[in-house]
Amino acid sequence: MRSKNLVLSSYGTTIFETMSRLAQQHSAINLGQGFPDGNGPPDVVAVASEYLESGSNQYPSMMGLPPLRQAVADINKRFYDLDINWETEVMVASGGTEALASSLFGLIEPDDEVILIEPLYDSYLPIVQRAGGVPKLIRLEPPTWELTETALKNVFCEKTKLILLNSPMNPCSKVFSPKELRLIAGFVEKFDTYAICDEVYEHLLFDGLKHIPLMTIPGMRDRCVRIGSAGKTFSLTGWKVGYVTASQNLLGSIAKAHQFLTFTTPPNLQAAVAYGLSKDNTYFEDLANNLQECRDFLKEGLEKIGFKVLTCEGSYFITADFRPLGFSGNDEEFCRYITTKAKVAAVPVSAFYQGKSAEHFARFCFCKEQTTLQKAIERLKTHFAG
Ligand SMILES: Cc1ncc(COP(=O)(O)O)c(C=O)c1O
Repeated sequence: MRSKNLVLSSYGTTIFETMSRLAQQHSAINLGQGFPDGNGPPDVVAVASEYLESGSNQYPSMMGLPPLRQAVADINKRFYDLDINWETEVMVASGGTEALASSLFGLIEPDDEVILIEPLYDSYLPIVQRAGGVPKLIRLEPPTWELTETALKNVFCEKTKLILLNSPMNPCSKVFSPKELRLIAGFVEKFDTYAICDEVYEHLLFDGLKHIPLMTIPGMRDRCVRIGSAGKTFSLTGWKVGYVTASQNLLGSIAKAHQFLTFTTPPNLQAAVAYGLSKDNTYFEDLANNLQECRDFLKEGLEKIGFKVLTCEGSYFITADFRPLGFSGNDEEFCRYITTKAKVAAVPVSAFYQGKSAEHFARFCFCKEQTTLQKAIERLKTHFAG
């Protein structure tokens, strides 16, 4: 038989899928994969269902429904004081994942170097490689996940086409500091490169921290591609509605990739997300505050059991060191162990690195009802107390 695509066929099933299947088999509470309990805000869901009956169900515009593109431009202004032309600088995609893929396919030429920061979200590397890019990895290490100037100096060069930045960052819940953002901006400008900014968790920051898009740093307005996701902003991860904000020059190329990947996104979901993005600030504040309570609840529960929980500044996840519990295996073994024995699933943090890395951290997702988190904590407590 002829070979299939070697880049893609070299990847196995993702760790999220593996752990979710194991969780299902063992009736475990799934704190591995990042999806919220519940069914999203009822008013947003209602707009989508009304639109199915009363709106058009035919192909929407390739760039997205105008009301959604306007809403994305408005939110850029409201939260970040960015002046965005909705007609030329905003595109709707089928989730943050497609927005990322279209951006990478649209900007990378074969042999371009692409800087990625570990721990890495799982779709980055295969898409960069499939686009012909050469990945250059920077490694952030627990417990501080600090990005240094030396690390940037070691990878930026004349061949660099772009850097992919995820803030708040999955899995380590880091929010890049203004100093780190300025450092990155300095290198992006010096080497005349671009930045794809995966900001799907932009509204999920805690303890009063404010999200700062790299795009707002001086010199970065026309070099950045800013990606958002309705899945995260409205706790509707199955909807897969994403949006890209970029200068017309960049967006033109990204739209070419989008045109051949998905072309468009279900119109009723777009209409509902346009409605959702126009909600007042209270919605966004409540979203972060409620999630912060869930974070605190899970953190406290895990700490009482004996885990050492790392700082979590944003996103859906906390990272916990399980060594104090006396478990001697690695993180994958630990996650399998708690899924099958304690019936609570998590994912191993080493799965987000290429090659050898720290192997004693598990990532737990806290975007769940408190009753779900309570039950998970009880199960772990009972197991480890025993
Ligand atoms: C860092 C990061 N980027 C992108 C995505 C994908 O977003 P979407 O579900 O909108 O495709 C996720 C989802 O978990 C994520 O964690």
